[in-house]
Amino acid sequence: MIEAEAPASERVGVEWRRRTEAEYTSAAITQHLALWLIQIGASPDLIRAGLVIVDDELVHAELSHAAAVAAGSQAPPQLTRERLGLARTPGEPLERDILRACVRSFCVGETLAVPLFAAMRERCAVPVARACLDRVLLDEVRHRDFGWTLIEWLFEACPMGQDLRALAQRELPPYLESRGRLYTAARELAPMTDEERAWGLLPHPRYGEIWRRAIERDFRPRFARVGVTLPAAS
Ligand SMILES: [Fe+2]
Ligand SMILES: [Fe+2]
Repeated sequence: MIEAEAPASERVGVEWRRRTEAEYTSAAITQHLALWLIQIGASPDLIRAGLVIVDDELVHAELSHAAAVAAGSQAPPQLTRERLGLARTPGEPLERDILRACVRSFCVGETLAVPLFAAMRERCAVPVARACLDRVLLDEVRHRDFGWTLIEWLFEACPMGQDLRALAQRELPPYLESRGRLYTAARELAPMTDEERAWGLLPHPRYGEIWRRAIERDFRPRFARVGVTLPAAS
């Protein structure tokens, strides 16, 4: 077992800064989605669940920032205002963009986050990083479930349900293709050290493995349950 005070390489600080940016962006996206849900008159339970997630994501951003600072990161998080929100597709009903955000950020993003953060936490021993991953992992299961509850509501309770299911059926396979390429592309320049693992970093090949496993174990059966079929594995 690596010492709790494992020294941080530059890559550790950079990665925790990137995670801070991602968590902050998740807070903004979820806040925007909650507003859209208010605008279409969604169930108040769903809206409230979304607002709780906004606060969770802010806590994740704070905890990630604490880890970045402890790892010696000097640069502040880079926050692009244009990315801190959701974009409307001109000429399309709001429900369609809600469906897209639900699928991408929650059904796919938060569902993948559960095994991804569990793998990051496996060998994480540095207390500031471990505290963050403990909290994130605790919350991500509820965030994932929010996505699957929302998609079911969109398909079953929304007057446009049939159109939305057809849209998911059309857009999901190419979306999974492009997102999968990001996770399976090898990007590591130097092998990851035990110290970096103790700070909660994960070698890139693990991202690809976890993605491929999630397709069969999570995405295929969960989407099938709501009537969206993934193409057979090649
Ligand atoms: Fe998060
Ligand atoms: Fe989340």
